[in-house]
Amino acid sequence: MAASIFAAVPRAPPVAVFKLTADFREDGDSRKVNLGVGAYRTDEGQPWVLPVVKKVEQMIANDNSLNHEYLPILGLPEFRANASRIALGDDSPAIKENRVGSVQSLGGTGALRIGAEFLRRWYNGNNNTATPVYVSAPSWENHNSVFMDAGFKDIRTYHYWDAAKRGLDLQGLLNDMESAPESSIFILHACAHNPTGTDPTPEQWKQIAAVMKRRSLFPFFDSAYQGFASGSLDKDAWAVRYFVSEGFELFCAQSFSKNFGLYNERVGNLTVVGKDADNVQRVLSQMEKIVRTTWSNPPSQGARIVATTLSSPQLFDEWKGNVKTMADRVLLMRSELRSRLEALGTPGTWNHITEQIGMFSFTGLNPKQVEYMIKEKHIYLMASGRINMCGLTTKNLDYVAKSIHEAVTKIQ
Ligand SMILES: Cc1ncc(COP(=O)(O)O)c(C=O)c1O
Repeated sequence: MAASIFAAVPRAPPVAVFKLTADFREDGDSRKVNLGVGAYRTDEGQPWVLPVVKKVEQMIANDNSLNHEYLPILGLPEFRANASRIALGDDSPAIKENRVGSVQSLGGTGALRIGAEFLRRWYNGNNNTATPVYVSAPSWENHNSVFMDAGFKDIRTYHYWDAAKRGLDLQGLLNDMESAPESSIFILHACAHNPTGTDPTPEQWKQIAAVMKRRSLFPFFDSAYQGFASGSLDKDAWAVRYFVSEGFELFCAQSFSKNFGLYNERVGNLTVVGKDADNVQRVLSQMEKIVRTTWSNPPSQGARIVATTLSSPQLFDEWKGNVKTMADRVLLMRSELRSRLEALGTPGTWNHITEQIGMFSFTGLNPKQVEYMIKEKHIYLMASGRINMCGLTTKNLDYVAKSIHEAVTKIQ
């Protein structure tokens, strides 16, 4: 037999976060803890179907008016409108002026991909592959790959994390914006920056917006954790809304994976804010072409759940309560972990654990210490030292804190 036509295909490396979870599953040690996964867990370490989601799923199952016909290519209209509304706010001038459009997407990743494809095809000249795309250092690793796969050739990083002070490197970030070529694209985390858990303050966002406006840089917000940072949807959307109020044209990729716990339903939205209705409609007409050749038509279940919840005042309140339950548990785990590390006298400072926000914390553990945690303690975390606070429970906190203490004191 002739050799396979695929004989020369090299094996791609596994996706780190999924590999970590697979390793965790195979680990037979009863003390094992998974701090790697990017999903909410209850205090019992279990996935959580939000009560409001369960209720709405039942409503959908009992609604005989629904069917499985194709949706419009751009998605379920009531989902798109409501999703953009919670990003931009009820009284958004851009919505009132009819210059907001949206595309239902397969998760936040789908929204980033459709936005990236559109920008490569139509922004800053046709088939524009040379426009620099700036991603924070560090960032969610998929930002880089999504823009690369969309055809962008010049992906750069901008300063974000100051490891020494365990906080935002605002000056580095502003310097990078000052020296970026005009029209460069900047991917900005709307809130709860992944992986550092460190966001600019409103005052710092104002400085960032001022430089971006003066230098004509394009803001592409990634909003994957609205509600998770502060427990308040409005607070967590402050930056996006401020940029809109400053007159920016922008994109905002929204994920409902985390704040609705709908990870595998793939429900996301790309909000487009333009100068006027005509611009937005032309942009959407091109995005429709991109969707047609990408997934052709979006799935309805997740979009129906979100649309039904967001369009009923009572369900909306219930959902906000569910989001707050998740955000509060994260806050509690932060303070509990910090107080344990401080009580143990673990070398270093641990205030960053409670100062950081959202699902993740950048512990400051180095790769060798991470390896020790995994190999010796069966505690799984990303090589960057990022931990998912939801992996902590009242039952494993002591063990995790003692293990971090050991890792930091034994391994330099
Ligand atoms: C920063 C960031 N953006 C986007 C996403 C994409 O989420 P989704 O699963 O909805 O595609 C994630 C998920 O982990 C994320 O952390």
